[in-house]
Amino acid sequence: MTILTLAGSPSARSRSSSLLRHVAQALARHGHEVSEIGLRDLPAQDLVEGLYAGPAAAALRARVSAASVVVVATPIYKASFAGGLKALLDLLDEKALAGKIVLPLGTGGSAAHLLALEYGLKPVLSALGARHILAGVYATDKEVGFGEDGLPRIVEAIRERLDEAVASVLALAGSARRAAANEALGRREAVAALG
Ligand SMILES: Cc1cc2nc3c(=O)[nH]c(=O)nc-3n(C[C@H](O)[C@H](O)[C@H](O)COP(=O)(O)O)c2cc1C
Repeated sequence: MTILTLAGSPSARSRSSSLLRHVAQALARHGHEVSEIGLRDLPAQDLVEGLYAGPAAAALRARVSAASVVVVATPIYKASFAGGLKALLDLLDEKALAGKIVLPLGTGGSAAHLLALEYGLKPVLSALGARHILAGVYATDKEVGFGEDGLPRIVEAIRERLDEAVASVLALAGSARRAAANEALGRREAVAALG
């Protein structure tokens, strides 16, 4: 299974990207191929101008297209998901997330905006064709931070929720694989019956 993580924070030291990495490491431990791309990997001008025809946008679309699971992380800005992430998502094709499993993650200064993933991010993911959007994981800045060594610190309750989200991704991917295999078998049997 190919997994892509999309980091929506403009910060080099990012709390939301820490959640993303926890999930990426857990999925990699299960033997899956995980790669990362983020807002900071795209030229700012391409993002601001929505340069769909540019090479960076084309590379982004190819990476998304190759993934069967997309994990998206965003900081909460002004009670919604980050505008920079929206600029990145705007470079994708109309149904870029169709058929993919999508896991949204978010961090905010306050627990008051935890529903921003539901009313802000999920409708956009859905507009991009995603039909398998898992329950997101939201953490406050008190729950995810950095130690004096500069390394990320995520409280246990959030780590547990991230691990549960990983288990849901794996379960959903497993049932999608089984459904596809059964469908292929059904098609082969129908062709054989015809003759
Ligand atoms: C411009 C700006 C606006 C913000 N607005 C909110 C907000 O409305 N609600 C909230 O809970 N946190 C808000 N925050 C705090 C960030 O969401 C929070 O620190 C988050 O963990 C940052 O994630 P990052 O480190 O991945 O960039 C805001 C931060 C910035 C810089």
